[in-house]
Amino acid sequence: MQEIKKYVEENKQRFLEELFELLRFPSVSADPKYKGDVLKTAAFVAEKLKEAGADKVEICETAGYPIIYGEKIIDAALPTVLIYGHYDVQPADPLELWHTPPFEPTVRDGKIYARGACDDKGQFYMHVKAFELMMKTNTLACNVKFMIEGEEEVGSSNLGIFVNANKERLKADVVLISDTSMISMENPSIETGLRGLAYMEVEVTGPNRDLHSGVYGGAVANPITILCKMIASLHDENNHITIPEFYDKVVKLTEDEKKALNSAPFDLEDYKKDLDINAEWGEKGYSTLERTGTRPTLEVNGIWGGYIGEGAKTVLPSKANAKISMRLVPHQNSDEISAIFQKHFESIAPDFVKVKVHAHHGGEPVVTPTDSVAYRAAEKAILTSFGKKPIPTRGGGSIPIVALFEDVLGIKSVLLGFGLDSDALHSPNEKYDIYNYYKGIETLPLFHKYFAELSK
Ligand code: BES
Ligand code: MN
Ligand code: MN
Repeated sequence: MQEIKKYVEENKQRFLEELFELLRFPSVSADPKYKGDVLKTAAFVAEKLKEAGADKVEICETAGYPIIYGEKIIDAALPTVLIYGHYDVQPADPLELWHTPPFEPTVRDGKIYARGACDDKGQFYMHVKAFELMMKTNTLACNVKFMIEGEEEVGSSNLGIFVNANKERLKADVVLISDTSMISMENPSIETGLRGLAYMEVEVTGPNRDLHSGVYGGAVANPITILCKMIASLHDENNHITIPEFYDKVVKLTEDEKKALNSAPFDLEDYKKDLDINAEWGEKGYSTLERTGTRPTLEVNGIWGGYIGEGAKTVLPSKANAKISMRLVPHQNSDEISAIFQKHFESIAPDFVKVKVHAHHGGEPVVTPTDSVAYRAAEKAILTSFGKKPIPTRGGGSIPIVALFEDVLGIKSVLLGFGLDSDALHSPNEKYDIYNYYKGIETLPLFHKYFAELSK
């Protein structure tokens, strides 16, 4: 531990500067206009992995953005850790809400503000630096493989193909991922589950063209009004989702599981204050932690139609659209849920309109074990570096590829994340505390050490 601290202390400034360099690339995978920048980011990651001491570093081309692979195999008898992360980021919009430019990392009050600061550049780069530290101090305790992708924020569709085609190369004993959050630095925690996702887009069409709202209004259905009614009907008065069969496979928590989940430190008043809301909302009969960690949900992610430009235009639009996503919990299946959503949405469309439903990428939910050697190693690493045993929690977010690692490679994951819910992932002014960045770099070598020891 002393040796680790010393190395981090001596290289602190450079570790930060390198992360800043990485954050300056606008690697937005969703927007083709950033293609050149995403590719430059991939090259940068490969270069840094090489510099840190990885062998066989390769920029693996895919039908989309490349996957960076690198490894250090020191002894076939030692366990192997496969580190996964993503170098792509979400779009930075709405730009006007950023206090400083999203791709010009800025430190305020000990926090790095930039798109990707936490999700996931700041977090996966901790692994690159922890690896460098172990190489330089001759303390690497496990074989290491890196797989850093560039399409996580757009559904990882090419990573699935890569994993299937590289089963031998990716053989490992555990997948280690830092792309999730902790409760707080005082209450360190480890997420032990991720929700799945089914993402739909709907289009409601009324008349065959935009109409004068005075000439036709009141006599022809307005697709925006109809779409709003259809969307509103997807939750009942208890905020329960009304789609038939939606909950059929959802398993109820046992009283013990409920108790454990709700014993995590969580202050509803702080939560409301942080979000500036007067009251929380959600499915009746469940606590906030149960709602985000263990219950499936349905959210409208965007809705558009009609005139939204300057001034007023009196129009009865021909079309209205929405993007609607559902978070899924164990035993729900993304394709099945997409299909029952489609069937239901079509069935509730009144005669005045036609609807089209399209399914985007999805992903399956996962629960990661807490009784594995890898989990115990993570627990011990946190205990050593934070002085507190981590609390297992259930996260609300999704990393669809985790289920695939289980299915295709047969490897379970450990979600050793160092972010905070207040890091504003996907929002304006995303941040990552410098403290968390260094703390992560200090904790990760301990994971490798304990994983090797406990695997014996
Ligand atoms: N790192 C997040 C997922 C996450 C965030 C998990 C916080 C737990 C806590 C990941 O990059 C992400 O944003 N995933 C997407 C899904 C993806 C298919 C776009 C998500 O959860 O919306
Ligand atoms: Mn992420
Ligand atoms: Mn993300």
